[in-house]
Amino acid sequence: MKGIILGGGRGTRLRPLTHTGPKQLIPVANRPVIEYAVEDLREAGVTDIAVVLGNKGREEIQDHLGDGSDLGVDITYVVQGNPLGIAHAVGCCREFVGEDDCVVYLGDNVLKQGIERLVESFEAGAHVAGIALQHVDNPGRFGVADVDEVGRVRALVEKPEDPPSDLALVGVYVFSTDVFDAIDAIEPSWRDELEITDAIQWLLENRGTIDSHVVEGWWKDTGKPEDILDANRLLLEDVDPGVAGTVEDGAEVSGRVDLQEGARIEAGAVVRGPASIASDTVIEAGTYVGPYTSIGPDSRLVGAHIENSVVVGESTIATGERFVDSLLGRGATVESAEGRLPDGNRLVIGENSQLEL
Ligand code: G1P
Repeated sequence: MKGIILGGGRGTRLRPLTHTGPKQLIPVANRPVIEYAVEDLREAGVTDIAVVLGNKGREEIQDHLGDGSDLGVDITYVVQGNPLGIAHAVGCCREFVGEDDCVVYLGDNVLKQGIERLVESFEAGAHVAGIALQHVDNPGRFGVADVDEVGRVRALVEKPEDPPSDLALVGVYVFSTDVFDAIDAIEPSWRDELEITDAIQWLLENRGTIDSHVVEGWWKDTGKPEDILDANRLLLEDVDPGVAGTVEDGAEVSGRVDLQEGARIEAGAVVRGPASIASDTVIEAGTYVGPYTSIGPDSRLVGAHIENSVVVGESTIATGERFVDSLLGRGATVESAEGRLPDGNRLVIGENSQLEL
């Protein structure tokens, strides 16, 4: 079984963060999203992995994952170029996959329970593909499956206006080599992409049955800022507390806090977990870091109150303001304008930024 992780896509819904880097490297609980996919594949025994790169953030992903040895896998890079759809990306891996079966994992998806069951069930059966499903409130945003009373897949449709069920396709799929015939046969969709959902529908009509599983644990497609915050919150629920960093006397730390090497919580600061503070970040006196917050590396917080938020890293937040449900990109600076004239907020904001003041 080979693995394919998709690292392309435009990331339009995550601008401005994706103006400067790929969405798959945005950290949740202080780890780039794509690392969770690599780990899930490894846990399922899949270590020969192709990472498909788009035009955006190619070098960054390669620099970050390298040959995969740090994560215990062997990574081959495949260049897709323009984002012409998930099925197109999978099609680019034909040579890499050869005569094997493959698991395709969208690099911006995170699943609590991993993918072992999906992979094992496919291997044990005689299906042409295996899919994972989850009941969702907004099926129109996803690929949707119509299944019968005993869970057999009857039809699949991408982002339907009138969804046949509330079962969304999770971004992890298992395929036999038949998938490449399907990719050759399908036509681009209304959004001008070769849809993986259409490829699976083709397999169902032309080749055989589709194995399906309803995923019990949480699943997040981190396509939008609120999804990043949700995924961060869910991952922090299970964060391993660790104090590789320093907690000074007079600092107040409670709950599970992952305090990484070189990080420091100074006297007079309050940190309430679950939270993650990455390496070499300093939380100074008067600062409050509340539950479900991840602060990336090399940052400095002076006096801010922040909770349920993600700070990517290399940030300075030096103001007494309160921040909730916020996502701050790398190198963001927020400072106090107190006492300066003329009085008022002074903003230097990148394209497509969103502020709720
Ligand atoms: C893609 C797939 C969709 C699937 C979703 C899961 O959507 O096309 O079928 O349900 O991933 O994350 P996209 O992220 O391209 O909108």
